[in-house]
Amino acid sequence: MAYDFNKIAKRYDLMNHLMTLGMDRGWRRQVVKELRPHRHDEVLDVACGTGDMSLLLLHDGGCRVHACDISEEMLAIAKKKCGGSGDFVMGDAESLPYGDGTFDAVTCAFGVRNFVHLGQGLHEMVRVVKPGGRLAVLELATPDNTVIRPFYRLYTRLAIPLLGRTVAGNGDAYRYLIDTVEHFPKGAAFMGLLEAEGCRVVQRKLFFGVCRLYVACKG
Ligand SMILES: C[S@@+](CC[C@H](N)C(=O)[O-])C[C@H]1O[C@@H](n2cnc3c(N)ncnc32)[C@H](O)[C@@H]1O
Repeated sequence: MAYDFNKIAKRYDLMNHLMTLGMDRGWRRQVVKELRPHRHDEVLDVACGTGDMSLLLLHDGGCRVHACDISEEMLAIAKKKCGGSGDFVMGDAESLPYGDGTFDAVTCAFGVRNFVHLGQGLHEMVRVVKPGGRLAVLELATPDNTVIRPFYRLYTRLAIPLLGRTVAGNGDAYRYLIDTVEHFPKGAAFMGLLEAEGCRVVQRKLFFGVCRLYVACKG
């Protein structure tokens, strides 16, 4: 079953910035940087949450932004944050309410890990991109580096649930986050899923691979 982000919507931004030590902003900026050299007049931000990725696309991306999320509360914050710009709809990534080949680019920041049927969500995101268009997926991952890994585990096992309890008043939500990161496909395994949808894919590892940016070009 999908995790209900309505429960943590009000504290989501603060928790995100604390947990990632503010790095989430830079990671989203990398998405805009990757898209910049390519045509991206119409961009869809899937699982937009509270709208940080959408806002960045509006301000720095110079594109028309469409965004969707399954959580009403997250979406309400996103709309307010973007001040009337952008087209926000409540929608399921696994059944996107857009026609084939509608967008020059699709972004999804920290969303795919939450899809109930990952393959279906990826299939839908690729479907709505124009041939030759790009799909940029940001997702958290466990680091590959064996020196970094024990520090990562300590931080995620102790600090993040503590922050979840004290700041968001919801330790379970953040235990869910850590568990899903550990079991989610990363690197070649994730790239393979996009390649199976007919894309060419590159991966950028951010901060020792704790965050991955996958950029797929639809064939
Ligand atoms: C971790 S938040 C990421 C939000 C935002 N993209 C960001 O950069 O912070 C995950 C978001 O995915 C949304 N989500 C989960 N499953 C979804 C689905 N099937 N369709 C659309 N949105 C979904 C949740 O409601 C939540 O807002």
